[in-house]
Amino acid sequence: QMGDAIFVGIITVSDRAAAGEYEDHGGPAVSAACESSGWRVEAEAIVPDDAAAIQRTIRAFSAQGCGLVLTTGGTGIAHRDVTPEAIREIMRLEIPGFGETMRMRSLEITPNAILSRSLAALVDQSLVIALPGKPSGAVECLGFVAQAIPHAVKLARGVPTSC
Ligand code: MTE
Repeated sequence: QMGDAIFVGIITVSDRAAAGEYEDHGGPAVSAACESSGWRVEAEAIVPDDAAAIQRTIRAFSAQGCGLVLTTGGTGIAHRDVTPEAIREIMRLEIPGFGETMRMRSLEITPNAILSRSLAALVDQSLVIALPGKPSGAVECLGFVAQAIPHAVKLARGVPTSC
């Protein structure tokens, strides 16, 4: 991570995508949205709905310089959905406004958005944002918070900066 460039790691969280039972559409959709914001996608992974795998991958991407780590999937209320718990176990702090904004804005699109426990947190030196699994929902949610991301990524890195 250098200067003002934003290096992104993207993690698709899905048992079935990780097992190859279906093609991952969420990761590529989020990746395309990042590229069109001028951010550099440096790392991508597909992991099952498993807290240890999610945590390990977030930390590995952070350690390799991804100031922004985006996850897609596992934010809902299905039995295997553990993404928020996995992130909360390793975060320094949560930034509630991201989850609040993503849910509030998404509710104007679909009532089921109330089921998403999407969130943002600081883990190690990175901003981590957990987006819903549906590709359109993930891209929509990213769009609702995108303007705050560059400043948050700088602060996550510990760069002194004014608002
Ligand atoms: N948010 C937006 N903006 N658009 C959507 O289509 N889908 C919702 C919600 N958030 C959606 C959305 C649905 S149907 C679910 S079940 C939850 O996100 C959780 O999805 P996940 O468990 O795949 O993360």
